[in-house]
Amino acid sequence: MATGSGIDSIMKEGRKFPPPADFARQAHISTEARYRELYDRSIKDPDGFWLAMARENHHWFKAPTRGLEWKSPDLRCFADGTTNLSFNCLDRQIELGRGDHTAILFEGEPGDVRKISYRELRDEVCRLANVLKKLGVKKGDRITLYMPMIPELAIAMLACARIGAPHSVIFGGFTSQAIADRLQDAGSHVVITADGGWRRGKIVPLKENVDAAADLTGMVKTVIVYERITQSRDRKGAGGTSGAPSAEAAQFKINMKSGRDHWWHDLMKDASTNCPAEPLDAEHMLYLLYTSGSTGKPKGILHTTGGYMVYTALSAKYVFDLKPDDVFWCTADIGWVTGHSYVVYGILQNGVTSVMYEGAPNQPDWDRFWAMIEKHKVTKFYTAPTAIRAFMRQGREFVDKHDLSSLKLLGTVGEPINPEAWIWYHTVVGKERCPIVDTWWQTETGGILLTPLPGVTSTKPGSATRPFFGIDPAIMSKEGKVAAPNEGGFLVIRKPWPAMLRGIWGDPERYQRQYWDEIPGVYFTGDSSRCDEDGYFWIMGRVDDVIKVAGHRLGTAEVESALVSHPKVAEAAVVGFPDELTGEAIAAFVALRSGNQPSEALETELKHHVAAVIGAIARPKALRFTDALPKTRSGKIMRRLLKELATKGRVDGDLTTLEDFSVIAKLRDEA
Ligand code: WTA
Repeated sequence: MATGSGIDSIMKEGRKFPPPADFARQAHISTEARYRELYDRSIKDPDGFWLAMARENHHWFKAPTRGLEWKSPDLRCFADGTTNLSFNCLDRQIELGRGDHTAILFEGEPGDVRKISYRELRDEVCRLANVLKKLGVKKGDRITLYMPMIPELAIAMLACARIGAPHSVIFGGFTSQAIADRLQDAGSHVVITADGGWRRGKIVPLKENVDAAADLTGMVKTVIVYERITQSRDRKGAGGTSGAPSAEAAQFKINMKSGRDHWWHDLMKDASTNCPAEPLDAEHMLYLLYTSGSTGKPKGILHTTGGYMVYTALSAKYVFDLKPDDVFWCTADIGWVTGHSYVVYGILQNGVTSVMYEGAPNQPDWDRFWAMIEKHKVTKFYTAPTAIRAFMRQGREFVDKHDLSSLKLLGTVGEPINPEAWIWYHTVVGKERCPIVDTWWQTETGGILLTPLPGVTSTKPGSATRPFFGIDPAIMSKEGKVAAPNEGGFLVIRKPWPAMLRGIWGDPERYQRQYWDEIPGVYFTGDSSRCDEDGYFWIMGRVDDVIKVAGHRLGTAEVESALVSHPKVAEAAVVGFPDELTGEAIAAFVALRSGNQPSEALETELKHHVAAVIGAIARPKALRFTDALPKTRSGKIMRRLLKELATKGRVDGDLTTLEDFSVIAKLRDEA
């Protein structure tokens, strides 16, 4: 298969699954004709389509009359409208009569359960918003949230959105250096955190990590600390219990720095539940979310209010076919974009119940998810292929122990799903009666772009199928030529859409270069893909230096810089290689400073060092010592060769541009 991109796909999958008839009958969109009609309208008349969606389904202080305004690379959407996303998630739902309905159904890892109604959620959000204002937080100030998966994280996001203070959520699995980098880049002086969180029966020392990050940057002025671990021990009966296994909790202590650190419960005690939502311009910045790119430090992806609001609500409604009584569970951590859009914003705007779970999927055992689905009667379940593969490996007994008859729909996101895992999900979890939506999207896209519609689209295992409304995808060569059916190439999007990123915080040049210069005139996704004869998209993976470990997005450059921060390391190169369970895993090649000898102990120490600097998800699975790294004559590390070596244990590619062939020859011979 000759292509301008040199990308070929070997995967061929012929099976096709029409939507279950019972599901299709009740779905919001239940015929191909209706999908076509809406899709065609969204492409031919995007302004008309999106303005209608915006006005029909959302509250505006001032309704917009302007749709998508595109002056490459800058997008504005609904620019003359004013609204508030916190209002749309909360007050609007109460106005629609959903005030007593459960908004968040939370289960902690230790087993504690809380149900928070829309009205209660609004009250808490208003109180925290008032607290923030009292602490001097102003519209536009960036607030850093570093919390466990507990309702207070959603409360904090919605409080920020209510007053127009953009949030920057940092995944709780990252450690102090990663927090410090993000604080610094965002220019953020206020952090909301918790004393700790529960993960695999152990305490994650969140506050301690914040303290270390604050020491590294010196820019943190205020820290609000929610009492998750110490609450049940010290303040019994005061507002719920963490249900903490007491032995570890009993010993647990954090330091509170006077003048800087405040307990959440102290600040909230006297705060008023009345805090009118601030009318914000549709293009007001909603949040920053740091993610990995091909080079350098993580970039702050910038999302704004109006377009993101409308797109996440609409995609949630149609992709998950949300109905008022749905109990929707997206297992993603809110530290990633999936949690932003489909645990919080897109889901709450539909007035349904969003399930949040704090801990690990195998705590106390491998049936935790299935037990929770049974107990809380979860109707729609959205998770990652890595999780599915992990469950598959444990055997179906864990699933079969539980009554999963409440389930109506299954979803996956984050990495390509292999057909074997898809079929297992379909038969063992979905009992062949639940449609599966394999949704493709990115931190940058804000919401789902490629997906089946569950009442309409026949699915093929491993394909994210077709574009959602307003999305105009194509497969292209580097020269911008559209690929023939089944010909591999780069996945691009040819038209802007409302939830598209508005830029990279503080780095317009990088924004232009990474998304708009690769293939002029189109949004460059960084993924390779093909489109089959039915117009279905098959994602093959990243074409840049982004690695997806268990669906978590990491950059090779970050791991390399963590490695070279170790005093014994001179140089390091990191590549991804295929892993049966996690999709991809990290392989590191390390050259030591003179005077140091490779050893197993040093290998372990370096892996541990990466985990300590970035977080456990970045720990290399394989680490090899080398005298030097293979470089081209211009000094560029030949990652392609290292990738081949890590993947196949040998190198077949062209070596003629190598500066020093002996380096790779030695690595190869030792493989
Ligand atoms: C990958 C996650 C195949 C892809 C929402 C993309 C997928 C990157 C899928 C973005 C899918 C996401 N099939 N690959 N259904 N969904 N990806 O920013 O490589 O964490 O570019 O956003 O995940 O990762 P991010």
